Amino acid sequence: MTGEELVERAEAAAENAYAPYSNYLVGASVLAKDGRVYDGVNVENAAYPLGVCAERTVISKAASDGLRPGDLAAIGITASPCGGCRQWIHEWQLERVYFRREDGSIAEYEPGDLLPDTWNLPEQ
Ligand code: THU
Repeated sequence: MTGEELVERAEAAAENAYAPYSNYLVGASVLAKDGRVYDGVNVENAAYPLGVCAERTVISKAASDGLRPGDLAAIGITASPCGGCRQWIHEWQLERVYFRREDGSIAEYEPGDLLPDTWNLPEQ
């Protein structure tokens, strides 16, 4: 599956976004190294800060199936990921990030280029 196909899948998934407050529909799709593909959407709440981004939804779905950091190859997103989701993408060791730029082109990044000098929890 190409990065563009992963973004197109995320765009189809975005139709299921629950975003009645912002009306901003976001979709994200993850390709696991074993070939499984997951889709996620943003899920908002009337208590605004409790809403969840599409990237966190899709990674949580994969986690719920037992996948762990290192098991995920790539994520495709309908738009550029927010800062907090970049930290999630770092934690889950995605190898590639693809998203649709506002000009319609497909962006491709390694996570380290989206979040340089990453923070990690020091060994206890
Ligand atoms: N949103 C995402 O789902 N992912 C991002 O990376 C940026 C923002 C959602 C959160 C909220 O539901 C809506 O977009 C507007 O901020």
